[in-house]
Amino acid sequence: MTTEAKEFEPEVVAFCCRHCAYSAADLAGGGRMTYPCAIKIVEMPCTGRANVLEILHAMENGADGVAVAGCLPGTCHYIKGNTHARQRVDHVSELLTKIGLEEMRVRMIHISAAMGAQFVAEVTNFVETIKDLGPSPLSRDTGNARVAPGSEHAGSKP
Ligand code: FES
Repeated sequence: MTTEAKEFEPEVVAFCCRHCAYSAADLAGGGRMTYPCAIKIVEMPCTGRANVLEILHAMENGADGVAVAGCLPGTCHYIKGNTHARQRVDHVSELLTKIGLEEMRVRMIHISAAMGAQFVAEVTNFVETIKDLGPSPLSRDTGNARVAPGSEHAGSKP
């Protein structure tokens, strides 16, 4: 890791299913476990809600990496939401590769609500990966004055 990469403080968005990853993050917090402050959690009813544009939008607006954290395979409360989410994450990875970015900037995580320590380990590992990659060139702003994900969604005024 270069000195520049060590000083780089990334912005990482984690779209978290409220039934599993969000609850796991809550469990970690309740257990006084810590994870990098780079992680900005966006709660969702299910990761099936996370679409390709939303993931790319987060990156365009300052996220150096995006994690989509859903239920364990076969346990999605909406049957196939996490399966669709994984397919979308894989698709975004391919798109990133096609435009010359690292596919590792987006990651699918499967976790249960009881896995607080695992949540901490997963997101910490992801932040370290993003730190090693450095700032995302896709971000409109490389000066760390970033726009919160979702703040320019349809319905918001220009
Ligand atoms: Fe958790 Fe679908 S309900 S990923």
